[in-house]
Amino acid sequence: MVGPGGALAAAPRHHHLLLLLCFLAGGARASLATDALRRVPPRAAAGGLCQQLLLPQGYPCTEHTVETGDGFLLSLQHIPHGKNRVADNAGPPVFLQHGLFQGGDTWFINSNEQSLGYILADNGFDVWIGNVRGTRWSKGHSTLSVHDKLFWDWSWQDLAEYDLVAMLSYVYTVTQSKIFYVGHSQGTIMGLAAFTKPEIVKMISSAALLCPISYLDHVSASFVLRAVAMHLDQMLITMGIHQLNFRSEMGVQILDSLCDAESLDCNSMLSSITGENCCFNSSRIDYYLEYEPHPSSTKNLRHLFQMIRKGTFAQYDYGWVGNLGRYGQLHPPPFDLSSIPESLPIWMGYGGLDALADITDVEHTIRELRSTPELLYIGDYGHIDFIMSMKAKDDVYVDLMRFLRAQQGMHSSS
Ligand SMILES: *[C@@H]1O[C@H](CO)[C@@H](O)[C@H](O)[C@H]1NC(C)=O
Repeated sequence: MVGPGGALAAAPRHHHLLLLLCFLAGGARASLATDALRRVPPRAAAGGLCQQLLLPQGYPCTEHTVETGDGFLLSLQHIPHGKNRVADNAGPPVFLQHGLFQGGDTWFINSNEQSLGYILADNGFDVWIGNVRGTRWSKGHSTLSVHDKLFWDWSWQDLAEYDLVAMLSYVYTVTQSKIFYVGHSQGTIMGLAAFTKPEIVKMISSAALLCPISYLDHVSASFVLRAVAMHLDQMLITMGIHQLNFRSEMGVQILDSLCDAESLDCNSMLSSITGENCCFNSSRIDYYLEYEPHPSSTKNLRHLFQMIRKGTFAQYDYGWVGNLGRYGQLHPPPFDLSSIPESLPIWMGYGGLDALADITDVEHTIRELRSTPELLYIGDYGHIDFIMSMKAKDDVYVDLMRFLRAQQGMHSSS
């Protein structure tokens, strides 16, 4: 069974395909981690994020739709104030951009006291939530359907150049105010790539980056390195699978097969992908799985794997011929972090056990920026702790809000 966007029928002959089919036939002994993926059915998107998550918790929330320059219809949520209104006037707008395989729900997935989205709203910020194309909340397009190959023909570069521009422009126009940008993981790559463009960075007052990523050549996550080594990206493309959905039967089988075939310890799937997370609430996993992981595109995975393989922070690599046609040069042009204006205040939170945003890569990013970011380093935090740690409020969000308020000269409202 193949999910939408993937048709096995027309797969070309290729040794990668054979390899994967062997895995699928021989593997598929369910590991603990994928048991849960099979057991918990994902929620339907009906009613949107506001209706499913925020309104039942007593928070104000409205749904907004923006269309990108290439026709994708993205949902944005607006939480104008907290559960108990703390200010008459809306505070400065904060835009939260989730990471890979996640969606806007990420910011509300723990309790009201633990989740950054709720905490910001309860502290007088005007909260806006981004959802990139392909996630459960943003599956619309003016002409394409999720079953079309073209619907999945994008990488994080397009998320920066189209999705972010559309969402930030909308918030900027509605609020008539510069925006605090908060991103996690892929949300930081999108931000850093976008901030190199004057027309985008002019809408931003400051940026808080959780697990900042631009260079990826020190990724240490065992599962990811395995997937890179066996060219999972090329395999999927060869098989005609363009949507990457770990909630589909095919997605779960691929995870199982990777774990089995490479005798990888996937009993802690999350750790083998993100690093040891100190403060993850594992008794909440079934609840998380109702919302996550969200789909992404195989092309996006391929772009990230290119970065891991080559150590570059550059545009998508189409190969020499494709690059010549598209970029007029053999190699894809890099994003130049030094063209982010020095006047943009940046704060970064990063963890010693993060297997994706490795410290060496974070330091590389910092070296190339013209400004000197404020840093919050937490030795025992992994990649997911920065959004899901049970004690992230004290460890991370209090300092993040101090940084945001300092930019605005805002007074503490709680
Ligand atoms: C962990 O999750 C469970 C289940 O949702 C919840 O009852 C518990 O309060 C959470 N623990 C902490 C410390 O937040």
